[in-house]
Amino acid sequence: MEKERLVQTAWEAREAAYAPYSGFAVGAALLGKSGRVYTGCNVESCAFGPTCCAERTALFKAVSEGEREFSAIAVAGGPMGRRDGGVTTPCGVCRQMLYEFDDGSMTVLMASGDGFCETTLAQLLPMGFGPKRLAPMVTAP
Ligand code: THU
Repeated sequence: MEKERLVQTAWEAREAAYAPYSGFAVGAALLGKSGRVYTGCNVESCAFGPTCCAERTALFKAVSEGEREFSAIAVAGGPMGRRDGGVTTPCGVCRQMLYEFDDGSMTVLMASGDGFCETTLAQLLPMGFGPKRLAPMVTAP
């Protein structure tokens, strides 16, 4: 799937954002190596802490449907109802969670009002703590 379409899918996923407390709406589109795209939006809680970001919503949907390998994620965020100029970069918690399923090749596309920036998860989380470090102790299912 081309990058522009993945970014457009993230903008569309943002329409479902439930963000009454921050007023900041985010959408994500996660491309599995199978070719399937999993979308997500942020879902907030009045208790604040339980809030789930768009990226993790998409990731949890994907993993819960059996997909564990990903080639790219697009993120589109900003004040609700507007597409202002800035890019939304994944938060630290989402970087860590995506890292769990990254083979070092995951592309991250961050939408702005007039296009998108591109980087990799490896660049966003250098020297990240990953599952391989626990491999000697854990027998993964
Ligand atoms: N948020 C995301 O969904 N993804 C990000 O990458 C950054 C932040 C959400 C969490 C919260 O609902 C709102 O944006 C403001 O932080």
